[in-house]
Amino acid sequence: MRILFIGDVVGSPGRKMIKEYTMKLKQAYKPTITIINGENAASGKGITEKIYKGFLDAGAQVVTLGNHSWDNKEIFSFIDEAKALIRPANYPEGTPGKGYTLVKVNQLEIAVINAMGRTFLPAIDCPFRKLDDILAEVRKRTPYIFVDFHAEATSEKQAMGWYLDGRVSAVVGTHTHVQTADERILPKGTAYLTDVGMTGPYDGILGVEKEPVLKKFLTTLPVRFEVAAGREQLNGVVIDIDAKTGLATAIKRIQINDDHPFYM
Ligand SMILES: [Fe+2]
Repeated sequence: MRILFIGDVVGSPGRKMIKEYTMKLKQAYKPTITIINGENAASGKGITEKIYKGFLDAGAQVVTLGNHSWDNKEIFSFIDEAKALIRPANYPEGTPGKGYTLVKVNQLEIAVINAMGRTFLPAIDCPFRKLDDILAEVRKRTPYIFVDFHAEATSEKQAMGWYLDGRVSAVVGTHTHVQTADERILPKGTAYLTDVGMTGPYDGILGVEKEPVLKKFLTTLPVRFEVAAGREQLNGVVIDIDAKTGLATAIKRIQINDDHPFYM
């Protein structure tokens, strides 16, 4: 069993990379399931129904979100019907949408869970205890469990990795947009990566044009961020899971950009 996860798609440059490379990556790695984080896919903030469906057409089985879930108001018109779209599970009770989904691929059921950290992010419910609650249900059904932990602080992401070690197949961080090089398999068998990195502009700052960011740092004046133009990148991760145990056997980062070209 193999999972391909592609990190935070930012605006049209990110969507272009998804169109161009998802099928190529699927041909190269033959994943059992492909998951895309799409919380920045609509002009850098939120997601629309058309973009969500475009990701499914491009080859994803599940699309995850994060702190920008609600930034494009269109989300409220389709999230409850969008079977393959999940938002952080630890939003308070009554929030639209759902925090995890079970996907059937080749007779196998794979659980995909989205949760969000609380350090430097909105103070929502405890992600650790929420994961306990979800795992109590999900582990009755399947040992194949992927967690997209959308969080700002490396410490909180590492804490979640250790907290879930041996209980899920993989914990992969999103949100900070720069891929970290700490991929590993924790001692009890959970694959872990602090941040998968983003898919979008390669020459901006975290996906937006660098000039306003520089102005902000140099003057502290309010500025407007726009998705950066120019070259693009894609960041992802491939995780192999033991069919019997649901624990990870390998984890490999993927970077596609002009400095790391993609070869089939
Ligand atoms: Fe985010």
